[in-house]
Amino acid sequence: MSAAREIPDQRSASYEADPEQIQRVLLLYSGGLDTSVMLKWIQDAYHAEVVCLTVNLGQPGEDYDVIRGKALALGALECHVVDARERFARGFLAPAIKANALYGGGYPLFTALGRPLIAQLAVEQARASGCDTIAHGCTGKGNDQVRIEATVATLAPELGVIAPVRSWRMGREEEIAYAREHGIPIKQGTEVVPYSIDDNLWGRSSEGRWIEDLAHAPEDDVFQLVTRPEEAPNEPQNVELTFESGIPVALDGERLELVELIEAVAQVGARHGVGIIDHVEDRIVGLKVRDIYEAPAAAIVLAAHHELERLVCTIHQNQFKPQLDRQWAYLVYAGLWWEPLREDLDAYMDHVNERVTGTIGLKLYKGHVRVTTRSSPEAVYDASLASFSESGGLFSQAASPGFIELFSLQSRMAWRLHNR
Ligand code: ARG
Repeated sequence: MSAAREIPDQRSASYEADPEQIQRVLLLYSGGLDTSVMLKWIQDAYHAEVVCLTVNLGQPGEDYDVIRGKALALGALECHVVDARERFARGFLAPAIKANALYGGGYPLFTALGRPLIAQLAVEQARASGCDTIAHGCTGKGNDQVRIEATVATLAPELGVIAPVRSWRMGREEEIAYAREHGIPIKQGTEVVPYSIDDNLWGRSSEGRWIEDLAHAPEDDVFQLVTRPEEAPNEPQNVELTFESGIPVALDGERLELVELIEAVAQVGARHGVGIIDHVEDRIVGLKVRDIYEAPAAAIVLAAHHELERLVCTIHQNQFKPQLDRQWAYLVYAGLWWEPLREDLDAYMDHVNERVTGTIGLKLYKGHVRVTTRSSPEAVYDASLASFSESGGLFSQAASPGFIELFSLQSRMAWRLHNR
């Protein structure tokens, strides 16, 4: 009698693994409580082997040797650690920058951008390690399950998926008890419920605890990445970001690879309290949820990129592109990274961004980031034309009244019709 029989078979989707068929599971392992309990639980419940995969997307403060050691001590057959920072930056953050990607007006999508890559790496490792199933630690209420499972089901229809947190019905107390019983080391004290954290190169999110009370203003201890603006330096700092074809390539004139540049921008932004976003958002599964985001690199890079893009684009491009930007952000938020529309939109983003070359200066001061200077060989800008003092050349002030007459014609006619 296998223990798997005790797991009620409640599958409701074609890609969910048949408990009877599970033999070797690729577990997306973070080293935290949930996925450590899961590592043991999968071995117990399914009599299955577990291969662990931990993905480095630039989340600060991880010790990957410790994570690997923990996985192996808990019975993992293998534990792979993949440094995917470069692939993340080039393949996911660069297109997000070109699309000025913000969901719900404020969330720079770092988690949403990371999930399809994490799931893709899980598929690659599952195939390399002969796994039949992929397991992740997402709950049944969030967006991340959608992003990961949609990716696996798209890229690897031959693999099954299990999401133990959705089905094992253990609360935090039971998980801690299970961990104690199975010799799983528990890092932080068990009295305080920790925030639910996710982070990478592009930002950090916190959920849970008082954050769920919309009337509760942020408590100081949530800010672990960005200096509280009140404590930021009293002197502002000016930085210059240089872009080539929409991609940031230099900070204060020093050329850097994208990963290093983002890390350096994050550091200076964090010092000045930049990138705190207190955000209530519409999850794809229907819930509204509040997050506290700390995204210093995104706050600075996106502000600079958007400014430069507007400078090199015409009024018509500037009217149009935000609609596509918003659609891009929605698709990525919703876990549809592999949807062809995203690539269609990217083709447009790439084309517009061919001209997004130049340098933007920004002033960072106590939580604020403000563009102060712009320069670009592609700017659709002529200082002498824009000036109040000059006339002539391409612009004739004498032509303006005729323009106004025709430009306002229909509006004037309609106004008269409706206000007779
Ligand atoms: N609300 C954000 C999103 O849906 C962040 C989610 C953070 N994930 C987490 N497991 N804490 O992308």
